[in-house]
Amino acid sequence: MQVVRSHLVRLAALAAGLVLVQGAALAADAGKGKQSFMKYGCWQCHGTVGQGSPITGPKLAPEPMPLEAMTAFIRNSNRTMPPYKEAVLPNEDLADIHAYLASIPKSPDPNSIDILKN
Ligand code: HEC
Repeated sequence: MQVVRSHLVRLAALAAGLVLVQGAALAADAGKGKQSFMKYGCWQCHGTVGQGSPITGPKLAPEPMPLEAMTAFIRNSNRTMPPYKEAVLPNEDLADIHAYLASIPKSPDPNSIDILKN
């Protein structure tokens, strides 16, 4: 009985470990997202912090659109921006890119900066 119990404990620990590993794989990572934003060339049109430019591509951050909407746009873009299919840009990398854009802080209110007050 004791042997069975210790096996059960070990199995439970193993299962908990697997759940943890899976959770880590699913959680979007802003640091990796920054690397992907550079690697896939998003920065070339949208700027390195997603600030956008009037000529090459719109602002993506701060406050990016929801991940579902971003995914739908990126997979099906048919205007100036090339579409990125899943074979080229996996969902996991896209979720990381979204986490990176969501991590970019808003600019401070100009009225909170003494030298800009008039
Ligand atoms: C060649 C330039 C270019 C590249 C590279 C590019 N984009 Fe874009 N993106 C655009 C342009 C231009 C638009 C505006 C829609 C259009 O004309 O296609 C746009 C639109 C978007 C939008 C919709 C924004 C909105 O407010 O409607 C998102 C989201 C986006 N891009 C994300 C990305 C991501 C993420 C990457 C990298 C995987 C990327 N883009 C790479 C040029 C680019």
